[in-house]
Amino acid sequence: MLSSVCGSLRRTLCNGSVLASKHPFLGRSNALKLETKPVCTRVMYRSYSANMHGQEVVFRQLFDNTSFTYTYLLGDAASKEAVLIDPVIELVDRDVRIVKELGLNLKYAVNTHVHADHVTGTGEIKKRIPTCKSVIAECSQAKADVFINEGDGIEFGQFKLECRSTPGHTDGCFTYVWHEKGMAFTGDALLIRGCGRTDFQQGSSEALYKSVHGKILSLPEQFILYPAHDYTGQTSTTVREEKNHNPRLTKPIDVFIRIMSELNLPYPKQLDRALPANMVCGIFDTESPPSKS
Ligand SMILES: [Fe+2]
Repeated sequence: MLSSVCGSLRRTLCNGSVLASKHPFLGRSNALKLETKPVCTRVMYRSYSANMHGQEVVFRQLFDNTSFTYTYLLGDAASKEAVLIDPVIELVDRDVRIVKELGLNLKYAVNTHVHADHVTGTGEIKKRIPTCKSVIAECSQAKADVFINEGDGIEFGQFKLECRSTPGHTDGCFTYVWHEKGMAFTGDALLIRGCGRTDFQQGSSEALYKSVHGKILSLPEQFILYPAHDYTGQTSTTVREEKNHNPRLTKPIDVFIRIMSELNLPYPKQLDRALPANMVCGIFDTESPPSKS
């Protein structure tokens, strides 16, 4: 099982045509050449051994090798309360199985924003775990059980995520900061050595630049940043790294805006399916989205 998963991911991540071409959410400047062995090792670590804080917390960084999405499971090991960030509908079986195997009480299934590249798993997860509530930003205008705004907290056991509004990729983008553990989950606002595109879904390069600098890169430099996606085999970064090495966000704002305007990214493959479904927790008939008026 492990070797087949590893082999599948190796084939996907090491596919030169994928890595060398412009990815719809990243762009050419961040495409990297990866060797087979390191990529495989990282994927194995990420999927099977990412319990980073001993007995106190549960932490899992899970990966979707179709949309290159990371899903994060955060839990309080004492109370067993947990939160899932950015689940993918095709991988709900995996996520629910892990939650149950670990004996967790999943309180919330949270989205960082209305995704355009995959359908959220929150609606399906609520069917399997009826006590779980879906969470999204109120300004996203999407359906959910709980709406968050700037400064709100998402509590699970003894821990709390601070909700920071980080618009620019979309109006409703939020970054979730886990201060106790020095982590932040940045969605598509800040990616590793990149950022989310700003050419659709209320995108604004100016707003994104201000969000990232004001709400994410203003965190302590040692904070570990976990993005919603990575297309190069990387799993996390830090505030310090991005302040020094992000090829877009280290530039002055006018240069950043020009870079973003010249990306010429392709139309996301799943956009027509994902956007309408994600406005209703992903439980929409995803095979037959309504026609545009
Ligand atoms: Fe996105």
